Amino acid sequence: MSESRIWKHHSRIKLRFYKHYVQICASHHIKDNYKRFTLVDLFCGEPRIQFEGNNYIDGSPLIALKKKVKCVFNDISESVVENVKNLNKKYPQQIIEVFNSDANENIEAILEKVPSYYHSLFYLDPDNASQISFETIQRIIDYKYIYKQTKEIMRPEMLINFPLYSITKNCGYIDKHNQSRCEINTRFFGNDNWKKAYQKGKTPDERRKNLFITFLESFKPYYIHSYSVLVKSLNSNTPLYYIVFFSNFRRIDEILPNLVGNIERWKKEDYIRKYKYGISRPIDCYNREESLNILERGKNENSSKN
Ligand SMILES: C[S@@+](CC[C@H](N)C(=O)[O-])C[C@H]1O[C@@H](n2cnc3c(N)ncnc32)[C@H](O)[C@@H]1O
Repeated sequence: MSESRIWKHHSRIKLRFYKHYVQICASHHIKDNYKRFTLVDLFCGEPRIQFEGNNYIDGSPLIALKKKVKCVFNDISESVVENVKNLNKKYPQQIIEVFNSDANENIEAILEKVPSYYHSLFYLDPDNASQISFETIQRIIDYKYIYKQTKEIMRPEMLINFPLYSITKNCGYIDKHNQSRCEINTRFFGNDNWKKAYQKGKTPDERRKNLFITFLESFKPYYIHSYSVLVKSLNSNTPLYYIVFFSNFRRIDEILPNLVGNIERWKKEDYIRKYKYGISRPIDCYNREESLNILERGKNENSSKN
């Protein structure tokens, strides 16, 4: 990523979600002085990022460090990593390691920095589907710890940017001869079920949903919650990306109502109104019933605050 990279405003929505989850983790771990939590930012990007209109805001590395949690960072770009390493001066106690690597090739070394018996959150924020393979995601899923007495399984939580826009573009090549574009999707999904899912949809909306559900299915054996939101450009009615969170945290109902309230607040921010972005309500696809109840509660709590 070059220093002059200029981000589109919709990425600020993604960073809002990121901040929200990191805050939840940080609040939970104040009591252990943040010792029992590791945040892994696999595609970390610059500490500060520039938006259209010459606005700068904190990127994901600084967002996490300001929340006091311990972090492992990784990025393939040398110049990005140089800037992230500079953060060591200000946050020496929090930065466990900064890797300059292809996340797919170096995932084993990165995992070694994470105590599997403690809580961890992996943030996977690639620019597009070509940058990550499902094999890498599977390695993270499998990085589990089984408590001897209770037999309970601890797995990393994951927050993933599902790059719908680039995936859908690749889908346009199913019937053409550009196999390499299709292979990007197959590598991202870990199989070629996405092809049938896409072709089964009768409308663009159905195709989008089918693609996303196909992705979620691969996580289902390992996580009890998968809640997600869709970010759209309302101007062109283009779905941009999903943000999806996978967790086995049983008290998820402590998180969701608050998220609903926050989304309503974010929607009122200037850049969302000016550039006309839409954010859907969070839905837990594995526990739809439960999440609908929680959403209802969030709506009520939110309206009683206003
Ligand atoms: C979308 S940006 C990350 C933005 C950052 N998470 C934020 O929200 O502030 C994606 C980053 O991934 C890096 N990247 C691309 N391919 C990669 C790979 N295979 N492994 C690790 N990093 C990669 C790019 O250099 C870029 O900095």
